Amino acid sequence: RVLILDFGSQYTQLIARRVREAGVYCELHPCDMDAQAIRDFAPRGIILSGGPQSVHEAETPRADPLVFELGVPVFGICYGMQTMAAQLGGSVNAANHREYGYAQVRARGHSRLLRDIEDHTSADGFGLLDVWMSHGDRVESLPEGFTVIAETDNAPLAGIADESRGFYGVQFHPEVTHTRQGKRIIERFVHDICGCASLWTPSNIIDDSIARIREQVGGDKVLLGLSGGVDSSVVAALLHRAIGDQLTCVFVDNGLLRLGEGDQVMRTFANHMGVKVIRVDAEERFLGRLKGVSDPEQKRKIIGNTFIEVFDDEASRIEDVKWLAQGTIYPDVIESAGAKTGKAKVIKSHHNVGGLPEEMNLSLVEPLRELFKDEVRKIGVELGLPSEMVYRHPFPGPGLGVRILGEVEKDYAETLRQADHIFIEELRAANLYDQVSQAFAVFLPVRSVGVVGDNRLYAHVIALRAVETIDFMTARWAHLPYDFLERVCLRIVNEVNGVSRVVYDITGKPPGTIEWE
Ligand code: XMP
Repeated sequence: RVLILDFGSQYTQLIARRVREAGVYCELHPCDMDAQAIRDFAPRGIILSGGPQSVHEAETPRADPLVFELGVPVFGICYGMQTMAAQLGGSVNAANHREYGYAQVRARGHSRLLRDIEDHTSADGFGLLDVWMSHGDRVESLPEGFTVIAETDNAPLAGIADESRGFYGVQFHPEVTHTRQGKRIIERFVHDICGCASLWTPSNIIDDSIARIREQVGGDKVLLGLSGGVDSSVVAALLHRAIGDQLTCVFVDNGLLRLGEGDQVMRTFANHMGVKVIRVDAEERFLGRLKGVSDPEQKRKIIGNTFIEVFDDEASRIEDVKWLAQGTIYPDVIESAGAKTGKAKVIKSHHNVGGLPEEMNLSLVEPLRELFKDEVRKIGVELGLPSEMVYRHPFPGPGLGVRILGEVEKDYAETLRQADHIFIEELRAANLYDQVSQAFAVFLPVRSVGVVGDNRLYAHVIALRAVETIDFMTARWAHLPYDFLERVCLRIVNEVNGVSRVVYDITGKPPGTIEWE
C-alpha cells in the first residue's frame, strides 16, 4: 500500500483516486504524520502532494525525515518535490515566471518514471509531455545524487530523480486529467517503481470488507437507516452479504421522496435481495411538524429531528441491537478531519440519514469509510444493485422538503413529484441523464396566469434545475438543448395538474447554491 502525505493541495484527493484506480490501496494523511505512525503504516511507497505554501518561507510544512530513510520510493509532486529537494540539501526559490495551466515538458535522459511516456517527440528525439502546472516556486539546485529528468523553459528542473534511492519529483500535476499521460506516470510509480500489484479491485474490496465486518460485529445484530441513496444502499447490500439476517434496515418514508421511490427501495432490497427492511410510513408525522413553517433552516432542522425520532422509535422495538451501520465514505472522513482544524462557514445545515444522537448507545460500523464514491458505485454494481440506483444523481436528506419553497403542503409534494418524474424520464430518454451531475424540479408557490384551450389557468410554477459539477462545491448550469427543454415544459404543463408555467434556472454556483433552499 501507498501512503500519501497531504500538504494541502486542492488536488490531493485526486492523487488518491488515481492510485486506487491503478488498483493499489492508498491512504491520505496530513503532512505532519509522525514517524511512528508512518512506520506502522508500512508503506511500499510514499507520495508527497502539492500544497499552497512556499518552501523557502519560514515555518512551512516538511515531511518527517523518516520518509527519506525508510528505503521505499518517494514521489514528490509540486510542493512535494520542492520540500523533498529542500529537505535533501537542494535549494528552492521563487520563480521569475509563475506557471499556471498548460505547459509542455521535455523529458531528459531515460528515467524509470518517464521512460517511453510521451505525447509528442521533439525534433531532436526527446519525449514531450503536455502537462498541467500550478506553481510559483522552482527547484534551483539539485540535492546530492539527483539528476534532471524533465525541463520546461521556465523551470529547468521540472522533474528530478535519484534512481538509486527511488526518489522522484515533478513540478507538474500528474493527478489531473489535463496532464494527458498522468495516469500512466502514476501507474508507473506505484506498479513498476514501488512494486505494488493491482489488487484493489471491486471483488477484492468486497471480500476484504466482508471479512472485516464479520470480525467486527461477530454474531451481533446490526441496524441501518436505509435511504435509497447510493451509500446506504451499498452498505445494505454489503452487510446483507456479510451477515445476512443479523441486519435490519429501517426505511423511513417521510412523504418527501421522489415518485415511486419507497416502492422501488422495497422491491430492490426486500423482494429481490431478501434484506430485512422495515418501512415506516411517516408522511403525516413529517408534514404535521412542517405545517406553518416556511424558513428553510427551520424546515431542515424539523425534518432532521423528526427523522431521528421516527428512527429511534422503530429502533427501540428491535431487540438486542448492538451496532448501527452508516454509509460514511472516505471524503467525509477526510473532510471532517479537515473541519476540525478549519473554520468552514455553515451555508446550510446538512442532514444525512444516520445523523443520530449518541444516546442510542450503539457502536458504529462503517464499511465504506475507506472508499471513494466511484469505488462505492463499483462495488454496488458488483453486489448486484441496479446500475440505475448506483449511478443516480444525489438527493438531499430533507428531500422535496427543500424543493418546495416555503411551506410544505401535501398536494404541492404530489405536484412536484410528477413534474420531477417527467423531467428525469425525459433526461434518460434523451441520453442526457448521465451528462449532468444533478437535475430536479422545484415547486414555486407563486401563481401565474396561463391559457389552456379557451380557459384561463391561474396555477403554480415549476422551475427546472440541472447542473454540471465535479465536486458540488461549484457548478455550472447545464446547457440543455432548447428543444429538449420545450418538450419537458409541454409535458409538465399538459400532464401535471396545477402547473401553468415552467422556467429553467440559469444560475451557477456560486452565486446560487444547487438546491433552492
Ligand atoms: P447546495 O444546495 O448546498 O448542494 O449547493 C450541494 C449538494 O448537496 C446536496 N444537499 C444535501 N445533501 N443533505 C444531503 O445529504 C442535505 O441536507 C443537503 N442539502 C443539499 C445537494 O442536493 C447538492 O448535491
